This record gives sequence, structure tokens and C-alpha cells, in this order.
Amino acid sequence: MSGTFENPEVVQEEVDILMIGGGMANCGAAYEIMRWADAAKAENGVDLKIKLVDKAALDRSGAVAQGLSAINTYIGDAQDPADYARMVSNDLMGITRDDLAYDLGRHVDESVHLFEEWGLPIWKTDADGVRHDGADSEKEGLPPLKDGGKPVRSGKWQIMINGESYKWIVAEAAKKALGTDRIQERVFIVKLVNDKNDKNRIAGAVGFSVRENKVYVFKAKAILLAAGGCVNLFRPRSVGEGQGRAWYPVWNAGSTYTMAAEAGAELTMMENRFVPARFKDGYGPVGAWFLLFKAQATNANGEVYMAKNKEMLNDYPPYGQAAVPASCLRNHLMLKEMKDGRGPIYMDTVTALAKLRETLTPKEVKHLEAEAWEDFLDMCVGQCGIWVGENIEPEKKNSELMPTEPYLLGSHSGCCGIWTSGPEDVGAPTDEALPGVPAHLPKGWNWGYRGMTTVKGLFTAGDGVGASGHKFSSGSHAEGRMAAKSMVKYCIDNKDMKVELDTDAAALVDEIYKPVRNFLEFKNYTTAIDVNPNYITPKMLQFRLQKIMDEYVAGVATYYTTNDKMLAVAEDKLGTLKEDAQKMRAKDLHELLRAWENYHRIMTAEAHMKHIQFREESRYPGFYYRMDKNFVDEENWKCFVNSIYDKTTKQWTCFKRAHVDLVDKSKLFKPATH
Ligand code: FAD
Ligand code: ADX
Repeated sequence: MSGTFENPEVVQEEVDILMIGGGMANCGAAYEIMRWADAAKAENGVDLKIKLVDKAALDRSGAVAQGLSAINTYIGDAQDPADYARMVSNDLMGITRDDLAYDLGRHVDESVHLFEEWGLPIWKTDADGVRHDGADSEKEGLPPLKDGGKPVRSGKWQIMINGESYKWIVAEAAKKALGTDRIQERVFIVKLVNDKNDKNRIAGAVGFSVRENKVYVFKAKAILLAAGGCVNLFRPRSVGEGQGRAWYPVWNAGSTYTMAAEAGAELTMMENRFVPARFKDGYGPVGAWFLLFKAQATNANGEVYMAKNKEMLNDYPPYGQAAVPASCLRNHLMLKEMKDGRGPIYMDTVTALAKLRETLTPKEVKHLEAEAWEDFLDMCVGQCGIWVGENIEPEKKNSELMPTEPYLLGSHSGCCGIWTSGPEDVGAPTDEALPGVPAHLPKGWNWGYRGMTTVKGLFTAGDGVGASGHKFSSGSHAEGRMAAKSMVKYCIDNKDMKVELDTDAAALVDEIYKPVRNFLEFKNYTTAIDVNPNYITPKMLQFRLQKIMDEYVAGVATYYTTNDKMLAVAEDKLGTLKEDAQKMRAKDLHELLRAWENYHRIMTAEAHMKHIQFREESRYPGFYYRMDKNFVDEENWKCFVNSIYDKTTKQWTCFKRAHVDLVDKSKLFKPATH
């Protein structure tokens, strides 16, 4: 092993473009970037040095690690990108960037076509309307999607796949395109470094190996920060040995939001969160059950709460009137039953499967019953364990549903993240309007490079891009590809620029290894290694964070409620926690990873709390309620809430940015049909 635990080897490397994270977004960027880099070399003589680092191994890293059984964003030919932007806006209660959603909508299908070309099996419908899963449809000679093949739609936007190996397939293409010598796995990035001569420019990043005693100091002109969203900042419902299980992958720890904020990037909509309604205890996905199997969720008495409580939607005009109510509003109607004592909530799998038997052939029914298991086996194998352990056969016994603890993310059904530059061609004043989108972007929505944050040279994609959402795996990949193209352009436009780190390498190493030094200095003070007045274990610190967030910032303990007074208490406690975070210990590299993950979680949690405090309404009923402002206030709060963190004063400044609808939303608000 190189270096010692006390004095790690320091590796300094200078690149033009650094990609942080090897998930869907950066796999998209890795696939895309070389063609633009090669063109830059041929046309401009610029030989760009590029590197991708991931804290884990690309084949199974990020949210798609276990696999998926549906691609949730595929536009196809029955809808257009403006319809997609409309859906995104509706699900996120009206406050999203139509330019970002529209742009994603017109590019996402190409990523899906690539996945199929790389070997991802996609379900198809044949000319007789019969469904075939991926392998069968290939055997039957059904054409690929790009040649007119008809996917099996589970919902309006989602298509079914046999996706246990989805991430392997996407990572393989990324590695092949970028070359493995440009990829370094098992490197956790702790912080970004600004430029010495321009505080608002990025100059590099620093991290450490989770396997060897090495610290990496990178200098880079452009960085694509796509390290996923944030999980485990709230106390999870699972306890004890089950606690390692969460809905969202536990290894995405808010690195994207924290590192961007500390580098000075403007964040947006950090008050937004996602509280998925999931199969209880195993966190199994519900989408296939609601959309493909047409199942309904009921209270303990078998009443369908979406019908029973539909009047409650009238409290939230116009969103309550949408044909498909937003995810948070669906939770809102479910929570009413739980709070009034009519739980547990059930997914009525028995009736759904019985109904399907009325219209489908026995072969199709068998296929669907197998799919009920495969849906979990593909992406959430733990839920199968629960079904087996609790003797659940979905055709015979209904399963409990439960709203989970909150998660922060920008690519699934949430929209927190970083404020980024939108597409250039949608907004130029002389542009022809795109179908369904008027020309002229609002001021401040574009500054030249798609996906660039407000810090020069710092880009993001996937969970990092705020105020959009519903991009999912395919959209995150497409967004990574767009960012790759922009980064190459940025590097060519700035080919003579030199960046210089604002902090020297020795100081950065000291900072990163502080938890190690806390441990080595004080470990002999007591005989019980975990109990020490001079340091705190990362695990204990995480419990403190989760307790604060759960009890004061609208976690499950309070049925997702908070108020200004509770937020003030949280603010105080988080401040102390942030100070105490300096005392985290690391007794090995694994704990060093846990320590820094926790630090990233605390900063993300603080941003979340600050934004909820600033937005004086309850924009997402069912996800959280500010009981002192328990209403949606369209007049004063139909706006973005953005924030900037000052790393010197350690203060957040929140402010409003105007929201503008670029796509006509009136089509959404038909009288409710459920
Ligand atoms: P990720 O793919 O999560 O990648 C983040 C990467 O960053 C990882 O490689 C991680 O190792 C790395 N990383 C994190 N921190 C650091 C750090 N500090 N330093 C270095 N590397 C770091 N989409 C669908 O289309 N269909 C579905 O059925 C579906 N189901 C889902 C189910 C769940 C439970 C979840 C959480 C998501 C699901 N999605 C689904 C959405 C999809 O997985 C995400 O939208 C997508 O993976 C986001 O891409 P990303 O690149 O932003 O993040
Ligand atoms: S998954 O990513 O783990 O598969 P989930 O099961 O929530 O997530 O949803 C998959 C897709 O189905 C998402 O696009 C989600 O918005 C959609 N969806 C889930 N439940 C419903 C519902 N009741 N009505 C409409 N869309 C839904």
C-alpha cells in the first residue's frame, strides 16, 4: 500500500476536463465526449486531457446499480417534448424550467436507442398487439425502437425493459468510448477548488482513494459534477440491521449539492424533496403496479383513497385539477387515511391480477405474474425477500404501502439541484419558436453553455440539475451527453486559459485527512475505541443528523410536518452539528469515506432546511407541510427559490427568481377523471 495512514501519498494531476461520478449522467458524458474532443483536435489542434473518477466501480455504481425494469422517460412518437415539459411541470407543482425539460425531451430518445443498440433488452408489442419481453422480441425479429419497433408502455412516459444488467451495459459503452486509462474508480471527491485569480471559476478538485492511502489533487478547466442526489439525511424507517437499506442508493450522499454550493454555485429548489410511496419495508417500486398492472391503493377498509379523498385536491388549484395529480398530492390523499387511523395502506394486487385475467391470454397472465416478481428482482431484490419471508403471493395477498423518509434528488420525481444554463437555441431572440415553445428565454436562464452552473467551468447533469426532474435514467444519460459537448466547447473557447488552485496541495491534504488525524491523536485516551471526548464516530454523527432532520424538518416522526419555530431549532442544532463534524474520526479508509459523506449530507440538509424556511408556503403537500403556512400561495410563491453559500462566512443567502411558463399549461387542467 502506498503512503501511510497518517501521511498519504499525494498524487497531483492536471487535466482539461474532470468528470466526477460514474453514474448514468457521466456514463452519458463519457460516451459522448470523445467524438467532440477528437473533432477539437482535428479542427483546432487542441488535445484535451480528460479523466473520470467514481467513488465506486462503474459497472454497478449509482442509482441504477441493482438494475431497473422500466425506462421512465421515453417520448416516442405519440407525444412531443412540449407534452413532456408539461408533465414535468405538473408533477412538480408548476415550478420547473420548461427550457431544460423541453431540451431534454427532444434528446432523450436517442439515448434509449443507444441502450438498445448496446444490448439492453426492451419489451415490444407485435402487430397483433401481443407483448413480448426483450429476449423474445429479438427472437421474433421485432424491429428496434429506432426503426419503428413498438415498446410496451407501462405508462404514458415509461417503457418496460429486462434491465437487471442495465448499468453494466451503459458502463461498458462508456468505458469503451472513453478508454479505461481515462477512468479511475474508488476515488471519492471531497471538495472542488476555485481559481486563485477568479473566485467564480473552477480550477480543480481534491479527493482520496478508498482503497489506498492516497490523496488526489486534480487541476481542471472544466468539471462535470454528477455525483447523484442525497440519501440518509433523514432518519430512515428501517432500523437495526435493515438500516443499510433505503429506497435511494445509500452511497449518494449529497456530494453534488455540497461541493457545488461550497464552490459558490447557485442552488435552486432545495426545498423540494421526494417522498416515494413504496412497498413497506423493502422499498419496492410501485410504478409497474399502478401503471402496468392497473392496481389501486386502498386504506385498511378496502376504500380507494384517490377516489374517496378526491375533494381534497380542490384545495390546490390548479394542480389538483390535473388529469394525473402530482406525486405529492397522491401522497397527500394517502396520508389523510393514515393520520385518521384507517391504515395500513395496501396495494390491491389481488384485484389487479384477477382483472388482468379477464382480458389477457393465460400465457400473458403468466408472463405478467412473473413480471411482478421480476420487477423487484431487476431493481429491488430485497422486496422479494420480504414477499418470501411474509408468505406473500401477490395474486393471493395484498401488500402494504408506506410513504418513505424524504430524499433529495433532481432527476427522479424531485427537482432540487443546481441552477444551470439552458439550451442556447431555445432562447435567442431571433430564433424561430420551437413547436409549442415561444422564443425568448427569460433573462438569466442561459449564459452560453448548456449545463454550466453559475461558476465558470463547473457543469452538472442528472440529479445535479435543479428545477427540472422526471429525467430518470435515460434523461440523466442524455443530459450528461449534452454537458460533454458543452464542456468541450468551453475548453476550446478558453484554450489559452490557465487555472490555478486557490489553496496549496499540502493544505488540502491536511483538511481531507483531518478525521484520520483526530483518530490517531486521541485514540489512546480511552479503552473503548468508539467512546472518546475528543472525537465522534461518523456513525454517531449520522444518527444525530438524522434525528434533527426527522424531528424538526418534517421527517416521518411528525408525519412530514414542521413550522417556523421547529425550523429555527433545527437551524441551531445543525449549526452545532456542523461544528462538531470537524471532530469526526476515521479509524480506517472506510470511516474516512463515511466521515466525508456525512459532511456532504449535513450541508445538503442545511440547504434543504434553509429553503423550506424561506419559502413561506407548503408547495408540496404530501411531501412536507409547513403548518404555519399550510397552503399553496400562487401569487407570492410561484417562483424559484435559489440560494448561494458563502464558504468564508458559512452563511446561506436565499432569494426568489421569477418563474415563467414557456409551454402552455392549460392543456393539463382538465376536470379530474379518477
Ligand atoms: P447516479 O446514476 O446515481 O450516479 C451517481 C454517481 O456518482 C455514482 O456512480 C456514485 O458512485 C458517484 N459518486 C457519488 N458521490 C461521489 C463522490 N463524492 N466522488 C466520486 N463519485 C461519487 N430511472 C428509470 O428510468 N427507471 C426506473 O425504474 C428507475 N428506478 C429508480 C429507482 C430508484 C430506487 C432510484 C433511486 C432511481 C431510479 N431511477 C429510475 C432514476 C435513475 O436511476 C436516476 O435518474 C439516474 O441514475 C441519475 O443519474 P446520475 O448520474 O445523476 O446519478
Ligand atoms: S421507480 O423509479 O422506482 O420505478 P416509481 O415506481 O415511483 O419509480 O415510478 C415509476 C414511474 O411511474 C414514474 O415515472 C412515476 O412518476 C410513475 N408513477 C408511479 N405511480 C404513479 C401513479 N399512481 N400515477 C401516475 N404515474 C405514476
